[in-house]
Order: sequence, then structure tokens, then C-alpha cells
Amino acid sequence: LLPPGKSLYRALLDSVTLSDENVKFQIIHEENKVLLQVEICEIEGNIFRLKIDEASPLRARYKVPDVLIKEPTTQSVNEDYKVQITANPFQVELQSKGETVMSMNSNGLLYFEHLQPPPSDRYSICLSHHSINTWFEQLGLLGLDISGFLFMQEKQEDLGLWQEKFGRFLDIKAHGPSSVGMDFSLYGFEHVYGIPQHTEALLLKNTSDGDAYRLYNLDIFGHKIHDKIGIYGSVPLLLAHKPNRTSGIFWLNSSETLVDITTKAQREVPLTDVRWMSESGIIDVFLLMGPTAFDLFKQFAQLTGTQALPPLFSLGYHQCRWNYEDEQDVKAVDAGFDEHSIPYDVMWLDIEHTDGKRYFTWDKKKFQNPQKMQELLSKKKRKLVVIIDPHIKIDPTYSLYSQAKDKGYFVKDRNGQDFEGICWPGSSCYLDFTNPEVRKWYGDQFAFKTYKGSTNILFVWNDMNEPSVFKGAELTMQKDAVHYNNWEHREVHNLYGFYQQMATAEGLIRRSSGKERPFVLTRSFFAGSQKYGAVWTGDNRAKWAYLKISIPMLLTISMAGISFCGADVGGFIGDPEPELLVRWYQAGAYQPFFRGHSIMKSKRREPWLFGEKNTRIIREAIRERYVLLPYLYTLFYRAHTAAEPPCLCFSPGNALLVHPVTEQEAKAVSVLLPGSEEFLCPALEAAVNLYSTWCVSQAYAVGELYLDDGHSFQYLHKKQFLYRKFTFLKNILVDADWAICIN
Ligand code: NOJ
Repeated sequence: LLPPGKSLYRALLDSVTLSDENVKFQIIHEENKVLLQVEICEIEGNIFRLKIDEASPLRARYKVPDVLIKEPTTQSVNEDYKVQITANPFQVELQSKGETVMSMNSNGLLYFEHLQPPPSDRYSICLSHHSINTWFEQLGLLGLDISGFLFMQEKQEDLGLWQEKFGRFLDIKAHGPSSVGMDFSLYGFEHVYGIPQHTEALLLKNTSDGDAYRLYNLDIFGHKIHDKIGIYGSVPLLLAHKPNRTSGIFWLNSSETLVDITTKAQREVPLTDVRWMSESGIIDVFLLMGPTAFDLFKQFAQLTGTQALPPLFSLGYHQCRWNYEDEQDVKAVDAGFDEHSIPYDVMWLDIEHTDGKRYFTWDKKKFQNPQKMQELLSKKKRKLVVIIDPHIKIDPTYSLYSQAKDKGYFVKDRNGQDFEGICWPGSSCYLDFTNPEVRKWYGDQFAFKTYKGSTNILFVWNDMNEPSVFKGAELTMQKDAVHYNNWEHREVHNLYGFYQQMATAEGLIRRSSGKERPFVLTRSFFAGSQKYGAVWTGDNRAKWAYLKISIPMLLTISMAGISFCGADVGGFIGDPEPELLVRWYQAGAYQPFFRGHSIMKSKRREPWLFGEKNTRIIREAIRERYVLLPYLYTLFYRAHTAAEPPCLCFSPGNALLVHPVTEQEAKAVSVLLPGSEEFLCPALEAAVNLYSTWCVSQAYAVGELYLDDGHSFQYLHKKQFLYRKFTFLKNILVDADWAICIN
């Protein structure tokens, strides 16, 4: 028996190879004798990468493609860091100037289910090892048909791992069990964050006596608050913070993943143990060494990309509802904003605008002239966003369906037929966005001449892309469905929405011949989704608790690289009381993506429907947003170029601190200022509490401003933009080139 925590893996010292790029060696499992190949390298900018795969797997294991923006550049010597590898038991330790920052496998929880032949094959391999004659001889002697007996026994034992029941669903694992896992110890850290998306507080909780955090993209309607089950999106990035250091673990795996967290704060040096477990794939983990939080954001962006620079309009206010019924409705709501002098930029159409949930089409009665409707919006410099979901109605007369079917572009079931599931249109097939050819074809559907009735003010909303499959296990696709290159759905599950948004964004760029920035909102996401647009938190409820939880949820998504995020203002499900709606507008006005949205059959809630006073307060909140737009746009430029999240500690940028009111009938809120000062601030009805460095120190302020045409890629290709730093000192506003006196 091994002492607890002793790993069964031992490194084989004579297998070590060292190059400028990396160190490689093998580790062996003392019991099953399976060899694993380990590779450790250092990447430019204080990042380490550890990869573990089977040394000679029966078939290649899935390695997440398309998430890293490029193959990271390795670096050979970094004086500040040292990687110490222990052979027996196998452990890796990362040290910075003599201080251990983290270690791997120190609790001995590394495991790797190696691929094996299916039980029946193993039986035949076993048979071939013995001469058939010997077997028959023995059988004859015993007078028993023991071969069948042995076979049955083995089958029952092993099939438990080769198939799994989930309610009435049977998941057949074509390649058998293949899970992987490892433990990490974070020294001196007792605060860990990240791994969205959960309806949880910012600080991750100890999971030792409860559920682990789950990363598995699911469509969960009206999701429960304070739950560790995964909802629509996943970013497997965990951040650990202590006073002098922020470190991160990026576990690059797109299968169902669990994260267990044990914090031991009572020790002299606190310690957090984090255990990652994934259903399949390989271990490919990036250790981001910070040392500051901003360094860490840069390191993650270096791997997965920065936030796409949004077109300016998309930072304005968005008005959505399931559904704006028809062209007259759209016209009336649009006019309502002007009548009530409320600024807004974008009108949204949900699924009912289509011809029977056939995306890329229009309901012929309700939307007879979509082009004219868009012209009306366009004259006012406004935009339209329409929903385009990934499921395709099975209807041979629907050309998108018949084309995709003929080309073999749908995900297959385990028997090789097109996978069929139920979604909004009824029986549907699901496009296989993991296939680059499908993505190209799909993106081409957005071309103006292909997408009838679309104009250059139309942008896109990708929903239901976990993917949502009504009546499917956990309302999603069977894990044994089959994708491009024969990969099972279990391998790629958390990437499905990422790929749909990628295809959509690229299609929108192509329809403008590469000139215009796209806008695509997605519900499902993965690490790197920031490159393709915005995300929102899905089906929340019109309740105070959901307003409150939206703040840590958005901060967590921001920390994981996705800066452009928001929650449905007002709450999607139910009817908010006016006070809640008003408070939600006041909070949403300072969040990166700002959209009012409501479910079908809820009461109408355009901002002017709640009496004079509430209309005025909402108007003020939205106008405040527009006043701050140049500031917000500058923050997005920083996010795009320097990976600085616009929304941190609910401080948009470093000049404002926002404290939204999230309690009913609140009279005051207590605000914690950096440096642990706390003060009580009145929660005035018409105001959201907002502080700026200017208020705090009237004598001195610095700031910067970014401006460009707001929609094209000219800032990138032709450097057509203005970016200035300003200093305000003794009532004089100065920038690098000129000075003006403002009094
Ligand atoms: C689910 C989405 O979360 C919601 O926002 C949308 O209105 C409905 N699908 C209908 O499309």
C-alpha cells in the first residue's frame, strides 16, 4: 500500500531528452506499466506548458485545435523561474527566486485512462495468444463451453466503462474510457477565481464537502443561483491571487471537466489544492506566472487572443424582446425611443421573425419588406440584430437543410446517420462547425446576395449553441454523436458554440470584403471566444437575486478574457417590478454589453411603460452610458490591444468605480474603496453611485482617449485612429502636443 498522496507514476530517467525548446521524458504507471510521454516547455512571457499524452496510444487522442492563436514561442532560459522535476513519485514544482509557487501531482492524483481495445477484441487477442487447439482440448476435457462464460464475465465487467446510462439515454463510448486528471497545489494562495460559467460568487468556494465546479456547456432555463453545475459556456482558466502574486492554470481541454478546490487557510502558509478532471483528451496545461493580474491577462491573451474591437454602435443600448412581432411593432418601438428622448442603437429580432424557425429567412406575413424596415433604422443610424441558431429544420424544401444534407455537413449519430434532435423548429439536424469547410460554407450564407432581405446594418445573435437539444440527455447532444474527422461529440462538446460564433463572425467580415467589423453575440463560449464578439449570461430571472449575481458572473467572464459581456437587463423570465427594472438599467448602463430582453408572453417593458418618473430615471441611466461612450470605447481599445479587462472590481477602467444598487428599497450602500476604506453612500433613487478619480482628487487627473471611425478595420490596416493621453493639473488640461485651459 502506498502512503496517501503517493503517485503511482515514476519518471524514467534514461528517457530524458533536453533541447532548447523543451524537456521530454516518459513516466510509467507502476501497476499497469503504461507509459506516458511528458513534455515541459517555457513560453515567452512567464508561461510554462506541461503536456502529457500516452506514449503509444491505440489511436490518437483529441488535442484541442483552433483555440491557441498560434503555436506558442518557446524560450530557453528565464533566470527568474525554475522547474524542478522529481522522478519517484513523479512531481513537478515551479519556483520563482527560490519560492515555490505551485506544484503538480504532489497529491498523487495524476491519472490517465489509457485507450484499450474493446472488451470483445481483447477476448479475441487473448484467444490468439493460446492456440485454438489448446482451448478446444481443454473445453473437451472439462466438457464445458467455458469460452462463452469467460467472455460474458469480462464483458459485464468492462462494459460498465464502455457505456453509460443517463436516464433513458445510453452513451456508447466507441473508444472506451479515456479520462485524464491531475492535481495542482498553489502555495500561499487562499483566493481563487475564474472557471466561468457558474451562477456563483466571484471567489471560488471550497468544494471538498460538495459538488465540484463543472465545465459542461448546457442550456439551463432560469438557472438556479449558487450552483456549480456548468451553464452555457466554459473557460477552463483558474486564477489564484495573493498580495504579491497572481498565477493562473489554463487547462486546455474541451470535454466535460470537473474542478475540485480545497483551500487550507488555517496553515502558516495557506495552500489551495486544485484538481482538474476531464472526460477525455490529453493533459495540456499552461501555467501563467503573472506576477501581476494584468500580466496574467496579457499571458492568457497571448495564448487565446484579445477581445475583438467592437463596432462602436454595439457599445450603445440594445432593445430586444422575444419577440418584436412584425414590422409595425419594430417601427413603433423604434419611434418610442425618439418620442421619449431615450438613446438606443440596436433593435433585435428573436426566432419568431423567421419562416417557421428556418434561419436566414423571414416570416412572409409579419416581415414582408425587411429591407425597407432596415432602411428606416439605417436612416436613424441604427442597426438590426437577428437570431441565427445552429439547429436546422429537417425540411427538404428548405435549401439550407437540403444543401447541408447533400454535402454531409451535419453531425452524425453513432450509426453514421445525420444526428436528429428536437429544437425550436421541431426535428432538426445540427451543423458540424468543427469542420472548417462547414464554417466556410456557413459564413458564406451571410453574403448579402445569399441572405435575402439582409442589409449592411444587420448583425447576428447565435443562441442555443451548447448545443441545445430538447429531449436530449441534459438537453444537449449525445456524447457519442460523431463530428468531422471521426471525433466523438464528448471530445468537442465545449467548443461547439465557439466554432459557430467563429464561423458567423468570419462570414460577416467576408460579406463586407474584409472591411467592416462584425458584431456577433453568442450564448455558448469557450476560451478564446473574445476574438469573435460578445456573450451574455442567458436565461436569468426578473428577481433581485439575479441582478445581484449578474455582477460576479460578468466579472468572472471578464477575468477569463471575454470583456464584452452582459446580462439581460430586467431579467429574461418574469415581469420585473418597476424598482427592479430601474435598478437593473442603472447597473447595466456600466456593464460592457447593455441589452434589455424579455421572454415571450412577459408583459411589455419598453423603458417608457412604467410612468413618468421611472421613464426619466431610465432615460438618465441610458444617457449616462452614452456620455461615457468615448471612455468605454477607449477601454475596449485597451482590451483589444493590451488585454486589460474593461470591467474589474466593477470599476470600468481605472477612473470610475461603480456600485450598483441590488437590494430592494435600499437607502444606502456601503462601498469598499481600494486600500480597504469603506464608506456609506446614499442610494438615491435616480442615481447609480459613481465615483471618479477626478472627484477623489480634484487637483490632478490623468486619462486617455481612443477614437476612430467606429466600424471598419482602417484602424488596423491604415492606422487611422487617434489615441491620446491627457493630464489635468491645476485646472489645466494638457496632452502631449498641446494644452488648453478649460476655465
Ligand atoms: C433562449 C435564449 O436564451 C433567449 O434569450 C431567447 O429569447 C430564446 N432562446 C428564444 O430564442
